[in-house]
Amino acid sequence: MPHETPESTTASIYGTHLPQMEAVLDRLVQCVESLRARMEAEMGINPVEHMLARIKSEDSMRDKLRRKGLPQTTEAALTQLYDAIGIRIVCAFLNDVYAIRDHLADDPEFDIVEERDYIRHAKPNGYRSYHLIVRSQQGYYAEVQLRTISMDTWAALEHHLQYKKPHKGNQRLIVQELKRCADELASTDVSMQTLRDAILGGDDS
Ligand code: GTP
Ligand code: MG
Repeated sequence: MPHETPESTTASIYGTHLPQMEAVLDRLVQCVESLRARMEAEMGINPVEHMLARIKSEDSMRDKLRRKGLPQTTEAALTQLYDAIGIRIVCAFLNDVYAIRDHLADDPEFDIVEERDYIRHAKPNGYRSYHLIVRSQQGYYAEVQLRTISMDTWAALEHHLQYKKPHKGNQRLIVQELKRCADELASTDVSMQTLRDAILGGDDS
């Protein structure tokens, strides 16, 4: 068998857990979908602009385990790292982020084990998002990222720029400018929320 490869490189890092992991991902999507349906029916609001649900690829998971000095085992992938299962929910408006967060917190299928509000407490570079690590009843961890369209735009652009090595002399200016863009977008998010409140409030005085 000339093409035989060692089992360690062909076996999935997730062992036999993939079907259960897919089920957890589906269950997270369902949770968000149920709130979307309720808000649409009750208020005519769709809180979800778009959503991305994924199982971390084999290569990314193995890279991350290596980077963190963890063993290449199913156990480490599922219990030492928490983002093998991940969902990113992009909302049009700020309040929708918190509505989804609350709905998830109320879901008996998931316990919140870690919560970071990088919206109220932005990272020094300007990054904003609401991050949750949840654990399903069966013990699978998942990372939930909630953000507005503006925050998502900034994160995507900043991610592109991470791969370009700026000229040393420009470094400080680039960091400052990225932060300024993030802050301007955050201020626009607040204004857009205020506009929506005014429109929904029907205050025509
Ligand atoms: P990891 O080692 O990546 O798991 O980091 P962590 O456990 O400290 O979590 P953190 O909340 O900082 O980041 C988790 C994820 O959020 C990352 O994998 C990115 O998807 C996103 N993220 C965090 N910080 C930034 C940032 O500065 N820029 C961008 N574009 N994304 C970020
Ligand atoms: Mg993480």
